[in-house]
Amino acid sequence: PSITYIQPGGTHVVIDVPVGQTVMEGAVQNDVNGIVAECGGACSCATCHAYIDKSWWPTIGEPDELELDMLEFAYETRDDSRLTCQVVVHESFDGLQIRIPSEQV
Ligand code: FES
Repeated sequence: PSITYIQPGGTHVVIDVPVGQTVMEGAVQNDVNGIVAECGGACSCATCHAYIDKSWWPTIGEPDELELDMLEFAYETRDDSRLTCQVVVHESFDGLQIRIPSEQV
């Protein structure tokens, strides 16, 4: 499925991320700036933080407790904040847009 990563400056990077990879892996493996993912996806660094429009949440799933706890350490969270290492790509994600924050922690 095609996922669009939107940089803080507005640049759109469109990547075909394989099903089963995380949204974080799709960014890191394709050198998308702004997703740092220091812990490599273990949900213990909060540097894979990004904004995902709430209209997508029924499709991508709600954050679990682990994700919500770790999000408290992320920079400038909003009500549409997610940790992208916890979002596993499914076929239905085609067209998903990820907004990358201006900084990670
Ligand atoms: Fe560390 Fe997501 S990569 S919390």
